[in-house]
Amino acid sequence: MEALKQKIQNEGKVLSETVLKVDAFINHQIDPTLMQQIGEAFASRFKEAGVTKVLTLESSGIAPSVFTSLQLGVPTVFARKRKSLTLIDQLYTANVYSFTKQETNEISISKDYLQEDDVVLVIDDFLANGQAVLGLKEIVEQAGASLAGVGIIIEKGFQDGGKILREQGIRVESLAILSSLQNGTVTFSE
Ligand code: G4P
Repeated sequence: MEALKQKIQNEGKVLSETVLKVDAFINHQIDPTLMQQIGEAFASRFKEAGVTKVLTLESSGIAPSVFTSLQLGVPTVFARKRKSLTLIDQLYTANVYSFTKQETNEISISKDYLQEDDVVLVIDDFLANGQAVLGLKEIVEQAGASLAGVGIIIEKGFQDGGKILREQGIRVESLAILSSLQNGTVTFSE
């Protein structure tokens, strides 16, 4: 997606050989015009998939998911990382280990918002090691729902997540795939 790649080149900051900071338009400040285009891009790629729910993980996955939802005419459900005061319902839960942060989060979704007849599109901002997506996939399986695929804004192609998910037969659509962040430079793979 050309507008996204331009934005990454112009406003992304390479923090190390493995980390790209995009606080200026995704992770802290949000560019609504770009986010709308991101939602349109995901919706167009999955428009024939019969999606009934967009599923993500708080917090940075919520904005692209809502814009995608709006285009597809279906709700967004986001998994929580912390227990909510009002989350007293029956829950689906999964453990997500973050290699980046070296911590495990238990993520949860109320059983009220995911049913076995749902066709789920999982959306997230970054794909690194794939652990967040695998946790969401586990929750989809617990609900007996089906997974239409995964939409990722920025896939770090030099980490294992994309390979792990695609080897499991999951359809992964990434709007920008980074092949390297070496020498302080962003390089995209086609
Ligand atoms: P994984 O799910 O693919 O295994 O990713 P990992 O555990 O490595 O990522 C943990 C968190 O760090 C996630 O955000 C993920 O989006 C983010 N992240 C991973 N690599 C990068 C990167 O290169 N740049 C940026 N900006 N973020 C990265 P999170 O903890 O869920 O945070 P948030 O959604 O609350 O913002």
